[in-house]
Amino acid sequence: MATRLTTTLRTTTPAARVSGLTRRFGDHVVLDGLDATVGPGELVALLGRSGSGKSTLLRSLAGLDRPDAGTVEVTGPVSVAFQEPRLLPWKRVLDNVALALRDGSRAERRERAGRALAEVGLSEKTDAWPLTLSGGQAQRTSLARALVTAPGLLLLDEPFSALDALTRLEMHDLVLSLWREHRPGVLLVTHDIDEALTLADRVLVVDRGRIRHAVDVRRPRPRDPADLTDLRAELLEVLGVGERTRASA
Ligand SMILES: Nc1ncnc2c1ncn2[C@@H]1O[C@H](COP(=O)(O)OP(=O)(O)OP(=O)(O)O)[C@@H](O)[C@H]1O
Ligand SMILES: [Mg+2]
Repeated sequence: MATRLTTTLRTTTPAARVSGLTRRFGDHVVLDGLDATVGPGELVALLGRSGSGKSTLLRSLAGLDRPDAGTVEVTGPVSVAFQEPRLLPWKRVLDNVALALRDGSRAERRERAGRALAEVGLSEKTDAWPLTLSGGQAQRTSLARALVTAPGLLLLDEPFSALDALTRLEMHDLVLSLWREHRPGVLLVTHDIDEALTLADRVLVVDRGRIRHAVDVRRPRPRDPADLTDLRAELLEVLGVGERTRASA
């Protein structure tokens, strides 16, 4: 019964909801009464200029930052993966993933971590040291660590931006397949409009402390960037880079 109740809640309550979120650093108002929702199992991308408060919003959702005002509701567990993988160099890959788990015996945690590593295609790196991994492998380890707790909300802060273009495309496929399999609500921060449009159900744009624009991407996946030119133009306009991009193209 208890399990069924949890499942029901997961499928009906938002993965994340913030209302009136306000965060100041001194006189600088970064988030100014921001409202946003990530539906259950919804993949939402967040765009915004550098310094617009995207990471601050994610940190609030992750419980890593305390807002000055407003409410934050999340469906846990909440996992975060950052731009840099943040692996502990003195722990082997498997133990880095198992570290995210609190419950169960050591053997159980290692077993779950092993399954998560298999899901991201890294079984052969189980016993490797983090410093011997490529950038993409380290980022996949970070994803395994984020997913091993079966999060209700997965927060991704520019997780692919340091990767080369080909690895980045592979990571897109991986994230989509993991998301389909586990269906966490996802909030993905990115600077890449095409990444947002090929992956997300909805794209939000944060500016001057609030969500100023939302785009519903109702297109079947896999998506071809060539079919998204109308939405890309809309987002470029909203981000205020339309003219400049056209001029330099
Ligand atoms: N701990 C802090 N102390 C003071 N100012 C901060 C702190 N954290 C963030 N800020 C400021 O808040 C603003 C928003 O920062 P944030 O990191 O959320 O931006 P961002 O949208 O993630 O930017 P980027 O795209 O460059 O990652 C910035 O002006 C930043 O300097
Ligand atoms: Mg940031």
